[in-house]
Amino acid sequence: MNTLNHLAIIMDGNGRWAKSRTLVRTDGHKKGADVVENIAIYCAKNGIKNLTLYAFSTENWKRPKSEVDFLLNLLLKFIKLKENLFLENSIRFHTIGDLSPFSNELKDAITNLKNKTKDNDRLNLILAINYGSQNEIVRAVNLALASGIKINEQSISNHLDSAGFGDVDLMIRTGGEQRLSNFLLWQSSYAELAFTPTLWPDFTSQELDKIIAKFRSTHRKFGAI
Ligand code: IPE
Ligand code: IPE
Ligand code: MG
Repeated sequence: MNTLNHLAIIMDGNGRWAKSRTLVRTDGHKKGADVVENIAIYCAKNGIKNLTLYAFSTENWKRPKSEVDFLLNLLLKFIKLKENLFLENSIRFHTIGDLSPFSNELKDAITNLKNKTKDNDRLNLILAINYGSQNEIVRAVNLALASGIKINEQSISNHLDSAGFGDVDLMIRTGGEQRLSNFLLWQSSYAELAFTPTLWPDFTSQELDKIIAKFRSTHRKFGAI
């Protein structure tokens, strides 16, 4: 049985979910935020130590400003209003990605939730925001170089935003596309990949449970036999 230390999810399909109901795309994002809560609780209760969720990519700035603003505002609301989710389930909040372009209000809310949850030890919930894997690797290499450290696999890993959470064991993408969209490329070098057509707002802990059951029984070889 494989242990699942690090689960990563590309939460895709919010826009199509809304469109199929003749709603506006942003309604899909709103519904998607509720699913985050269910999935985080499932992970906290099922012994998963690290859950990384792709919430906003470095490429998502290409969307219309109104949608970008909505997403960042939804993120702010989630962080401010969901404190109880973190406290009641002993979830510690982290982020990966370059936070520098965000408003001070958002940056302060992020810092505040990180501080408030720093002693929680059941689950690390890591939100990938303004995250791009290539950007993260470049920043990691520059950080290592600036401290005079030799570049090798270990030193790059140690300087990634995700250092400490371990490589991804299982990567799930909802919404039917079969691509990684610049998410955790380095950390997923040996991840098991699961693609489901379910749109993120329809994704349930029951489906997650099935995907994890399959993961647990997979023979992971890491190049050996
Ligand atoms: C994923 O849903 C959420 C984000 C990328 C923020 P999408 O908004 O990409 O939904 P689709 O892929 O257009 O259906
Ligand atoms: C990936 O979804 C980013 C997030 C889920 C945050 P996208 O919808 O942005 O990816 P592409 O454009 O289909 O590759
Ligand atoms: Mg999408």
